[in-house]
Amino acid sequence: MKAKTLLWIIIIIFVVIQFIPSGRPEVVKDNPQDLLANNAVPEDVAGMLKTSCYDCHSNEPVYPWYAYVAPVSWLVSRDVREGKKELNFSEWEGLKKIKKAEYLDSMSEEIDDEDMPMPIYFLMHRDAKLTPEQRGRLIGWTEDFADSLFE
Ligand code: HEC
Repeated sequence: MKAKTLLWIIIIIFVVIQFIPSGRPEVVKDNPQDLLANNAVPEDVAGMLKTSCYDCHSNEPVYPWYAYVAPVSWLVSRDVREGKKELNFSEWEGLKKIKKAEYLDSMSEEIDDEDMPMPIYFLMHRDAKLTPEQRGRLIGWTEDFADSLFE
């Protein structure tokens, strides 16, 4: 096969896959049950949650351009869908206290083990990477916040 034919085939495949729906969750801006909107979360903690977690764990992801270009859009969409299914900060107030406490506990575990944010996310979001101090600060907050639920 000639190189030129191959190139055309690749281009055609690329164009055709753009029509396959990616299942990218829609952005919803109005979230009355949002964690940050309803609680006095310290500014630095809120900032870290927004920068490092909200793109996959809320109804308000900020999609980069490649979230609209297949095949990368499929990967981004899957992470946002699955992240939101596990934990959605936009629906926080609807949770029972005990469920909130469970989530805060697993957040601190995920952060401590450096499993979250997902490492692949750092590829294009360097500022989402948490320093040891930031991890300590976030973990401390999850504990204080969990305690405050039962006061
Ligand atoms: C790039 C997307 C992405 C980012 C950013 C992200 N997460 Fe996740 N998160 C996921 C996905 C996907 C899952 C479900 C699959 C899994 O557990 O790996 C998940 C699962 C979780 C879970 C549930 C784990 C379990 O199995 O019980 C917690 C808790 C969590 N994330 C917390 C966080 C926190 C806190 C942050 C920010 C510091 C964060 N995540 C950032 C995608 C993300």
